Amino acid sequence: MLNDTIQIVPDDSSKPLRIVVLVSGSGSNLQVLIDTMQSGALPIEIVGVISNRADAYAITRAKDANIPVAVLSHITNGKRMGIKTFERHASTQLAAWQPDLIVLAGFMRVLSSDFINNAPAPMINLHPSLLPAYKGLNTHQRVIQAGEHHHGCSIHLVTAELDAGTVLTQAMLKVVPNETADSLKTRVQKLEHQLLPWTILLLAKGILVIENTLSTKYHNSLPTLPLTLFIDK
Ligand code: GAR
Repeated sequence: MLNDTIQIVPDDSSKPLRIVVLVSGSGSNLQVLIDTMQSGALPIEIVGVISNRADAYAITRAKDANIPVAVLSHITNGKRMGIKTFERHASTQLAAWQPDLIVLAGFMRVLSSDFINNAPAPMINLHPSLLPAYKGLNTHQRVIQAGEHHHGCSIHLVTAELDAGTVLTQAMLKVVPNETADSLKTRVQKLEHQLLPWTILLLAKGILVIENTLSTKYHNSLPTLPLTLFIDK
């Protein structure tokens, strides 16, 4: 008699994407990833969180979700941890966690090209502007001062040049009359909370494929990069 037991062999796409998230602050974007992971909406496993600030609320969010955290504080007992030391510890941690993807979600230290080029997985960064416009800090204030009509957020590959890697996805909004930097920040963060899981879903499903830090490919029936989510409110 034939053995009619059916064995289901999981293929790679059924494995969750292993993610390490780097943070410096509140971690509202980390929380969205935790929530979507826990609900099963995103096929990811957050295998670790690295914070460069001991007071980041993101640490509490990670611990509450039982995610391992490495705090590599940039200042301990008044002494500043140099970027090389930070990167040495971070590399050891990444090697232990073996991520498929590294996500910078509100991570505010500038990383060296050595660290970026030798990272064990592709690295993406969430930036609060429509890149290539408004690289760097204080993006919301600068957008208001320039009288822009549109603003938003971008997710791009991390390369040695600050905020300059290939832009994968963007979400856009209209700047409304009487807008302030604070109101824009709140509105852009709402977009970030949709854009980040959406982008990671495209990566986890293999629709968007990062081949190396300089190039990407994705399903050729889709429009050219960046894919843009336009929220016209
Ligand atoms: C986000 O708005 C992100 O775009 C920004 O930091 C915030 C972190 O919020 N990142 C940068 O400015 C990077 N240059 P969160 O800690 O609540 O996720």
